[in-house]
Amino acid sequence: MEKAEFSQRLKKFPPYLFAEIDKKKSHLKAKGVDFLDLSIGDPDIPAPKKVVEALCTGASLKNNQKYALDQGNPALRISIQKWFKKRFAVNLDANRQILPLLGSKEGLVHFPLAFVNKGDYVIIPSPGYPGYRGAALFSGAKIHEMPLLAENNFLPNFSAIPLTIKNKAKIIYLNYPNNPTTALASLDFLKETVKFCSRYGIIIAYDNAYSEIYFDKKPHSILEIKGSQEIAIEFHSFSKTFCMTGFRIGWAAGNEKLLAGLLKVKTNIDSGIFGAVQEAGRVALDECGSYIENMRGIFNRRRKIFLRGMVKAGFNDIYADSTFYVWARIPSSYKSSMEFTEYLITKKGIVATPGAGFGKYGEGFVRFALTVGEDKLNKVFDK
Ligand SMILES: Cc1ncc(COP(=O)(O)O)c(C=O)c1O
Repeated sequence: MEKAEFSQRLKKFPPYLFAEIDKKKSHLKAKGVDFLDLSIGDPDIPAPKKVVEALCTGASLKNNQKYALDQGNPALRISIQKWFKKRFAVNLDANRQILPLLGSKEGLVHFPLAFVNKGDYVIIPSPGYPGYRGAALFSGAKIHEMPLLAENNFLPNFSAIPLTIKNKAKIIYLNYPNNPTTALASLDFLKETVKFCSRYGIIIAYDNAYSEIYFDKKPHSILEIKGSQEIAIEFHSFSKTFCMTGFRIGWAAGNEKLLAGLLKVKTNIDSGIFGAVQEAGRVALDECGSYIENMRGIFNRRRKIFLRGMVKAGFNDIYADSTFYVWARIPSSYKSSMEFTEYLITKKGIVATPGAGFGKYGEGFVRFALTVGEDKLNKVFDK
C-alpha cells in the first residue's frame, strides 16, 4: 500500500541498535544456543522491595486508576526536590522546576520538539546514547556529531565545533557519567560547558541517568553550576538508580521555560504517569538510600572481576570509571566492532554491543554491560 510508506522523517532513522540486538538474541534462543547477555543496560538486580509494595498498594486505589496529572503528583515532585537538595545541594522549585517523565528517554526524545525550528542544529555526542539522534531527527533538526575521544578523556572539545554550527545550534546533549565510555565530568568541565553554551545561546540537555552509579568520584549535576539554570535542563532516571527500568519513570529539572516547553509537548502526547508508579518512585527517593549504596557495591565487585578477566584475555585499552558498563578498544586483528561482536557471539557465547552502534566515533570499541552475577562474570573469559 503506497500510503503506508514510511515518512521521509522515519526513513532517516537508523535501525534501533538494541532492537537489532534483540532480534539476534531471539534467533540464538530459537536455535537453543546458550549465551551470556552483556548487551543491554538493564540491571538484573530486583527493584527495592518497598518500591514494589508501594506499586501494588497504589494499584488498588481508585484515584490512581484515573488519568494522572500531566505535571506529576505534588508529593513526588516534593520528594524529587528534597532528594536533589540532599544529593547536589541545589534548590529547585517543586512546581516550576521539576517535571516527572515516563522514563528519561521519553523526555530526552520529546524535548527538541518544543524548541527546534527549521535549519537549527542539535549537537549530539559520538559515541552516545542512540536516543539523542532519534530526538534530533523527530524534531527535523540537522545533526552535528561531536566526537568524544579517548585522548580527551571522552569529553568534547567545544573549540573544534565549526563556528557556523555553534551559531545555528539550538540544543547540545551531554551525558556524564557517560554511556558508553564510562567517563565522568569534572566541575571545571561543567563550568566550561555553561560558559560555552551561554556564549552561543545553546540549550544544554544534560542526561544524568547514571548519576548514582559511580565508584571513586561522585558525579555532579550541571545545575550546580552558576548560570546553568538559565540555559539547562537535566534528565534523571529511576531506571538505573533503583533498577526500575520497566516501571517507566524519570524526571527533568532545571530552567522553568525549558520545562514548560517540554510539558506542553507532553500534554499533547501522553496523559501522565500511572499514579501507583509515581508513588513507587516517591518511596524509592524517600526511603531507599541504602539500596543505592548496596547496588554500587554489587557493580563494583562485578567490575573488578570482569576487568581482571579482560586483562588476562589480552584487552589493553579498557575504560570502567562509572556506570555498569565497560568500554574497551577491540583487538587490532578485527576490522570493525561489528566483526568483533560477531566473533564474541559465535565463538565465545557473549552478546556485547558494537561501538559503532553509538555513532561513528564509537567504531573500534565494544561495550559490555555488567548486568549478570559474579559467578557468570568469573567464567566469561575462561572459554
Ligand atoms: C544515557 C542514557 N540515558 C537515558 C536512558 C533512558 O533511561 P530510561 O529508562 O529512564 O528511559 C538510558 C538507558 O539506557 C541511557 O543509557
